[in-house]
Amino acid sequence: MAPADSTPTVPGQWLGGPGAPGQRRTSDPSSRAPGRSPEHLDLTALEDRARALLPPAVADFYAGGAESEVTLGEATDAWLSWRLRPRVLRGVSAVRLGTSLLGSDVRTPIGVAPWAYQAMAHPDGEQGSARGAAAAGALMAVSTSATAPLADVAATEPASPKWFQLYRQHSPAHTDDLARRAGQAGYRALVPTVDLPIFGRRLRDVANDFALPADLPPGNAPAPGTVGADSPLWTFDDIGRFGELSELPVVVKGVLRGDDAARCVQAGAAAVWVSTHGGRQADAVVASAHVLPEVVDAVADEAEVYVDGGIRTGWHVLTALALGATAVFVGRPAIWGLATEGAAGVAAVLDGLSAQLAHTMALCGLSDVRSVPRDTVILAR
Ligand code: FNR
Repeated sequence: MAPADSTPTVPGQWLGGPGAPGQRRTSDPSSRAPGRSPEHLDLTALEDRARALLPPAVADFYAGGAESEVTLGEATDAWLSWRLRPRVLRGVSAVRLGTSLLGSDVRTPIGVAPWAYQAMAHPDGEQGSARGAAAAGALMAVSTSATAPLADVAATEPASPKWFQLYRQHSPAHTDDLARRAGQAGYRALVPTVDLPIFGRRLRDVANDFALPADLPPGNAPAPGTVGADSPLWTFDDIGRFGELSELPVVVKGVLRGDDAARCVQAGAAAVWVSTHGGRQADAVVASAHVLPEVVDAVADEAEVYVDGGIRTGWHVLTALALGATAVFVGRPAIWGLATEGAAGVAAVLDGLSAQLAHTMALCGLSDVRSVPRDTVILAR
């Protein structure tokens, strides 16, 4: 079976044993009710359940994208521009999902992307997400726009690795203070999000006249009365500066070009994160699935590359790994998980995607997420 450092997060039957759905007989005592186990992850049904629980304008805030939502609409299909090329007769009996992200060990290469205002989705907010991510052995990136203070989220499941995502929306002094405090609180990396020089226009929010609830906890906002001007627009020079302030490796999130990725790494970034911000910033931009190879070619010898945007299945994840990503992140699936069942819902989403990834890898003759060859995928015709 699997060696000790191997981390298949799937039940044995997923890799081919008896008892799997479609393989067992009705008399089999291992029969289970569908719908709860990782292999029955149904993200469409999960989103429907979340929508039924949330006020419609809040659900729209989470689901929506910018302008005509072209980027949002294309994100998931873009992963299917690629098709898998399975290897046969490779004797894969266990799949290792564990990997290392900037030196932090995780049990799955699927992490939780930073997303704002989590207490609006579930009373447990970011701390619920942190518990869910820890249960799944996944890394969590925590937003500047969190509803819980950064130190409180860091103190939730402190052994489970977390990164702090930095926005420019506050004064220079407050932004620098957040970077410093992130380092002191135990975050393992700082993630400046650079695709938000200004806010995208999210037309669902305009149509709904959406406003945040007055009683939403302020999280990392400055104390009342101390709000200064926004920080000046960031440049490549800020990458090194934030690294020094926080004493953390810097992951630049929101890169969509190889030349930008190379400049980030030259400026001191330890990693770049390919992202369209879930289609919420510029619209009609290139899909993450299409630009990932260009970014990997530009920097992967010197820096880790992560990707998010429309990742909804294990085979999307495997495609991203084949194209050179070290890890992927999910936004909305984690939102729907938290909204429906708090920490358990987040863990179920991560476990379900991880199970699909392991299953697809076994079918493709691959045993280790750390070594998925590029020729595992080919452009679909
Ligand atoms: C986001 N995203 C985001 N990114 C970031 O760097 N800081 C943030 O606070 C937020 N907030 C946020 C809120 C909501 C409601 C969404 C949907 C997204 C972007 C997020 O980190 C990630 O890039 C995308 O969500 C990934 O795409 P999918 O998985 O949602 O398709």
